[in-house]
Amino acid sequence: LQRLEKLYEGKAKRVYKTNIEKQFIVEYKDDATAFNGEKKGTISNKGLINNEMSAHLFKILADAGIENHFIELLNEREMLVKSVEIIPIEVMIRNVVAGSLAKRLGLDEGTELSKTVIEFAYKSDELGDPMINDYHIDALNLATKEQLDTIKSLSIKINEVLEKYFLEKDLRLIDYKLEFGLFENRVILADEISPDTCRLWDVNTNEKLDKDRFRRDLGNVEESYIEVLRRLKA
Ligand code: C5P
Repeated sequence: LQRLEKLYEGKAKRVYKTNIEKQFIVEYKDDATAFNGEKKGTISNKGLINNEMSAHLFKILADAGIENHFIELLNEREMLVKSVEIIPIEVMIRNVVAGSLAKRLGLDEGTELSKTVIEFAYKSDELGDPMINDYHIDALNLATKEQLDTIKSLSIKINEVLEKYFLEKDLRLIDYKLEFGLFENRVILADEISPDTCRLWDVNTNEKLDKDRFRRDLGNVEESYIEVLRRLKA
């Protein structure tokens, strides 16, 4: 396996072509950003932790019958993935009110939702990922109606698996972001699943063990990421 040219560099990851057809390499960086890149920093060893944690969760999801882009771990910072074409939609899944939803609706963080809420954002760094709905997705041809239905039904399935799995590890899955892509004309799960993209609270104390520790300067950022990984692997 050879790593060839860089295809894409985002805030937390780089994607490379390989000499093998339909396979890319994803490299996880330690760089951390928040508030659309306004706050910048590094979380030491974040790349290693998120690479390992994403691999772990992608395997759990594959075992539950949910296809995703993960093929195998290559080393501490890199994984081999299927060469999906990312659909430019961020899918936010919320089980409990937190973050921007708390702010938007004037609700306390931690308020229970009687059912799972799915929201969409247009994936654009320049625009700061603005919120969109089904009509925008349709009118702007970001995804077909069939693809969007698949994204929604996969999101609900993924949520059932992940919420239950995290709870077994004494973690509440409050909310998170998923990205999907096209691979051989199928919509499959891609990107990452890590404390960068999920809100995870300790089930007993509600202590935040995710990127909010960086966003809100709560301290013990790296320690919290390590704690989540430790629990998942226990
Ligand atoms: O900021 P907000 O409350 O809308 O975020 C909802 C969830 O989506 C959080 O878990 C956050 O970490 C994740 N998210 C993300 N990347 C973004 C926006 C949100 O991972 N660009």
